[in-house]
Amino acid sequence: MALMEDITGAIVVTGATGNVGRALVRMLSEAGSPVTAVARSVTVADVPAGVRAAPADLAEPAGLRAAFAGAQALFLLVAGEDPHGVLAEAKSAGIRRVVLLSSQGAGTRPEAYRHPRLFEEAVKESGLDWTILRSGGMATNALAWAESISARREAAAPFGDVGLPFVDPDDVAAVAAAALLGDGHLSAIYTLTGPAPTSPRERAATIAAALGEPVRFTEQTEEEAHALMSRFMPLPAVEGTLAILGRPTEEEQRPSPDVERVLERAPGSFADWAARNAPAFR
Ligand SMILES: NC(=O)c1ccc[n+]([C@@H]2O[C@H](COP(=O)([O-])OP(=O)(O)OC[C@H]3O[C@@H](n4cnc5c(N)ncnc54)[C@H](OP(=O)(O)O)[C@@H]3O)[C@@H](O)[C@H]2O)c1
Repeated sequence: MALMEDITGAIVVTGATGNVGRALVRMLSEAGSPVTAVARSVTVADVPAGVRAAPADLAEPAGLRAAFAGAQALFLLVAGEDPHGVLAEAKSAGIRRVVLLSSQGAGTRPEAYRHPRLFEEAVKESGLDWTILRSGGMATNALAWAESISARREAAAPFGDVGLPFVDPDDVAAVAAAALLGDGHLSAIYTLTGPAPTSPRERAATIAAALGEPVRFTEQTEEEAHALMSRFMPLPAVEGTLAILGRPTEEEQRPSPDVERVLERAPGSFADWAARNAPAFR
């Protein structure tokens, strides 16, 4: 049964050194929550003062025991093969709420996004209070251009003119903080996007404007992009991602109202994100 109480005790944030997790740790810590930051390689140097750093691997649930001890809530990302052991450890530690960061594809392309789907099912069946965040593509994916834009003022991507409403990871973190701390988001599945679709060509131009210098955009073929992405992503993820980037459904192209519904303000635009992150491309 859902426990309709706010969370005032410790919150465990997995993926705490990532784009979303880092922002979430900061937000929760600023809100006065005790926070434990988990990632495989996290150290005290990675977290704000007062936050506990607990290095652990989501693929090895028993190693999470120390991090989970005394916590009330868990921010979980899709990592490791099987979420059941992690959720069992969370329950036996007394954690009562879990907020899962999943992918929009779990809803729009369940066959290709089986792994996030497995995590969603496990969270729903866990007996914990749950909220699922289905993120669309994130603005931080543009950091893949950081090196080529810094070095040569060049950006390459497939499907140059296909628009998607990329979400600012700070907005994903802010929605996660709301769901972790408040009691109004139990059993909700939110789709998180930015306010408007932008194409890769437009995103390169937006970064150029933030830099005050031109950036040359080159369109890759799907085969080129497939070969490059296969170096660091498993095959189903490459295929699922390329399908969304190149042949998005109407739903995947449509901005979702959920960020604004939860935060009571409009989601940040790609231009906002690029302006804040221009130094990464200098
Ligand atoms: N980028 C997108 O467009 C997009 C869209 C939808 C959903 N998502 C989801 O959002 C998640 C977070 O995105 P992000 O940009 O914040 O990711 P990110 O910057 O790549 O960071 C990933 C974080 O997770 C940690 N991590 C990875 N594997 C782990 C494991 N086995 N055990 C414990 N910690 C682990 C990493 O630290 P260590 O390496 O030190 O462990 C790091 O802190 C992604 O993992 C993905 O599932 C992303």
